[in-house]
Amino acid sequence: MPPLTGFRDFYPEECAGRNAIFSVWRSVATRYGFVEYDGPPLESLELYQKKSGAEIASQLYNFTDKGERHVALRPELTPTLARMVAERHRDFKKPLKWFAIPQVFRYERPQKGRLREHYQLNCDILGEPSLEADAENIALAIDVLRAFGLTSDDFVIRLSDRQFWVDLLIARNVPQEKWYDFFQAIDKSEREPEEKTREKLGPLADEVLGILANGAESARLDAVERSLTVRGFGACYKRDFTIVRGLAYYTGIVWEAFDRTGQFRAICGGGRYDDLLKNLGGVDMPALGFGMGDVVLGELLKARGKAPATAQTLDYFVAIADETVRENAMELVQKLRDAGKRTDFAIAIGTKLGKQLETASARGARHAIVADAKLKSGEAELKDLQTREQRTVPVASLLGVVA
Ligand code: HAM
Repeated sequence: MPPLTGFRDFYPEECAGRNAIFSVWRSVATRYGFVEYDGPPLESLELYQKKSGAEIASQLYNFTDKGERHVALRPELTPTLARMVAERHRDFKKPLKWFAIPQVFRYERPQKGRLREHYQLNCDILGEPSLEADAENIALAIDVLRAFGLTSDDFVIRLSDRQFWVDLLIARNVPQEKWYDFFQAIDKSEREPEEKTREKLGPLADEVLGILANGAESARLDAVERSLTVRGFGACYKRDFTIVRGLAYYTGIVWEAFDRTGQFRAICGGGRYDDLLKNLGGVDMPALGFGMGDVVLGELLKARGKAPATAQTLDYFVAIADETVRENAMELVQKLRDAGKRTDFAIAIGTKLGKQLETASARGARHAIVADAKLKSGEAELKDLQTREQRTVPVASLLGVVA
């Protein structure tokens, strides 16, 4: 029976691929001084209904639990992070640089790059209002992509300034309750016919479409771009006011990363959300961050031949050639494992030696240890499965043999 639509089974090969991605994510985030945290996968429904915006609220996996509580599987981690930090903000030195790799759930129409669950690297900086924090966060996203072997030829960060649009809305007297629809219209403008966008934008259509086509001045973007360029990432970004982000809480610099060919959906996206902690927990603390899903990233890496290697290997496979030494062989297996060697053996009694050696190769073992009568006198046959060379060695030396 297959899993539910939009959900994935992770057989060992897929699981290894997923873990290889997680391990790059973790290593680059920690290289940037981020520390790992996590929150609960189930939260109160209210947490998302109020702050994430109508689009994500319509995609929630929600239900009423046995205690009549209205709950939802997390569709994203940012509201949880804001809740957690607001709760204990006095305990932490600012700025906080925190990362997490949650599995998140959205009832979306499954399609290329979009499933109903995905894993998402989240990296957020809290308690720092300066634009250097925005640049630091974007630089981290760039370095994560570089760590997978992607370059500025493969991806581009599309940088934008949501505050620029807010200033324009205020200057044009657009009432605040209409802002969300305005941002949704811009967010969808690339995928919808111009006529539809014009209709949604109404009297602002000419001005807004002009800015989308020709760009505009933003001192905030100037500062972020300068910092990225100094770090050597000048070729990795472009200014693009179409990016406003689908989520409701962003307040400043916003951005998304795309592959250069435009074949895939957004690889990652984020921005500043200076009001979220105040709105959720009554704590005035600036914040920003990004989320990078494993689905689009995985598709892109596969398409570019850059999926991380996932071969499962063993240091030793103990092949039991003579059942009378099985107990000695098991003692050796245990000693090798105690010494930190990845070791396996043929569990089934009486398996032919040739079959055991085939299994050893298939399992990616570097060496087979052939256990025969010599094992009783402290010796074993060591077979290099790549060169097929074989020699008799003292058992004691095996624990020190570097595989
Ligand atoms: P988001 O843009 O909704 O932002 O999601 C971030 C990334 O998650 C996307 O760029 C994409 O890679 C991946 N993603 C989103 N939905 C799906 C899906 N249905 N299937 C597969 N992958 C998906 C956020 O979630 C923000 N909370 C990020 C953030 C952190 N902002 C500040 N801090």
